[in-house]
Amino acid sequence: MLRNSIHLADDGQRSQVSTSAFRPTHAEVNLAALRANLATIASLAAPARVVAVVKADAYGHGLEAVASALEAEGVAGFGVALAEEGLELRRLGIRAPILVLNGVYGRYHREVLEARLVPVVYDLDQVEAFEMAARDSCVEVHLNLATGMSRLGVPWREVESFLNALSRHRRCIISGLMTHLAAADSDFELTRVQIARFQRVLAHLKAMGHRPRLIHVANTAGTLLHPHLRFNWVRVGGGLYGVVPPGWESHFLPTMRIRSEVIAIRELRAGDTVGYDATYRCTRPSRIATVPMGYGDGLPRSLSNRGRVLIRAHRCPIVGLVSMDLVMVDVTEVPKVRVGDEVVFLGEQHHDHRREAIGLSEIAAWAGTIPYDLLTGISRRVPRVYVNQSC
Ligand SMILES: Cc1ncc(COP(=O)(O)O)c(C=O)c1O
Repeated sequence: MLRNSIHLADDGQRSQVSTSAFRPTHAEVNLAALRANLATIASLAAPARVVAVVKADAYGHGLEAVASALEAEGVAGFGVALAEEGLELRRLGIRAPILVLNGVYGRYHREVLEARLVPVVYDLDQVEAFEMAARDSCVEVHLNLATGMSRLGVPWREVESFLNALSRHRRCIISGLMTHLAAADSDFELTRVQIARFQRVLAHLKAMGHRPRLIHVANTAGTLLHPHLRFNWVRVGGGLYGVVPPGWESHFLPTMRIRSEVIAIRELRAGDTVGYDATYRCTRPSRIATVPMGYGDGLPRSLSNRGRVLIRAHRCPIVGLVSMDLVMVDVTEVPKVRVGDEVVFLGEQHHDHRREAIGLSEIAAWAGTIPYDLLTGISRRVPRVYVNQSC
């Protein structure tokens, strides 16, 4: 059994979820949707192969279940931000190549090599640390170039002096070259400039005798919107979890649904207030439902008096301030709401003949953030429930 997660039988009956002995607030992760998204992106990217980015607990979906499902589908490898995430993948039994995208901090270079993690480097201190850790053996690294993000990577203007200094490190083999796109979905001119810089460095590297086998640039938006940037690997995170640029949504499936249940209903009068600081005051007789999910679970506090949830397939407004464990919802307009009714924060709900859905982008717009922030913000307190585990 995974830590803080629940696995359902393959029929994935939702009714089983709500009979949990504990709080009915769950994030349902649909592994069939994950596999379908991988298949879509893999067929678009081919012949380039997909490196699945599973940092931050697989974008909040749960590292073990997601990585196991994706490895079974034959991804080229995994991308993580931190060495400790890579070590965790090895502990979980993942055998595919693992790229540590953000470099290795601290002192665990030897452990990183022993676990066959592939370090991404961007300064000479890192190269030296890995050479020391490798003792007499050669060490394979991927080189990160900063071509426009100005975050990590060897700054493109300094690459020549970096490569000259690197030539003294004979046991360091550059087996891959990467850069990260800053605005693949929003600034095509910057993307073009980034690629021009990248290509110049690639040519220079080859002229110096390096033979990087694995060239990777594209994230989800790069893969979908700039086919010429696929090279031989693409590093895809968002697309696996159904987060794609506008216009591509119909080709991908949502992978997470967040649900809970009504635990109390209060009949209020005009003038009554709701929640901390009394930021909501009823203007009419109102039915207010209390739902056990709050900012301690990753429900953004910025949804206070702004967001919506689904009950009986109706959109119901969040009223008052979201508190740490609870949120209140106005159900006055929805007939017959009862304690125990399902509440959906994210995803679809069906009731009688109605169907309604709330998507990640919609919540992100209400909350003034982006879908990735929402997904990775769902806290450990919310059990991940896996549905459709096998093909
Ligand atoms: C270096 C790097 N490559 C690839 C990705 C995957 O990006 P996306 O989730 O947009 O596909 C990320 C994620 O931020 C990243 O930091």
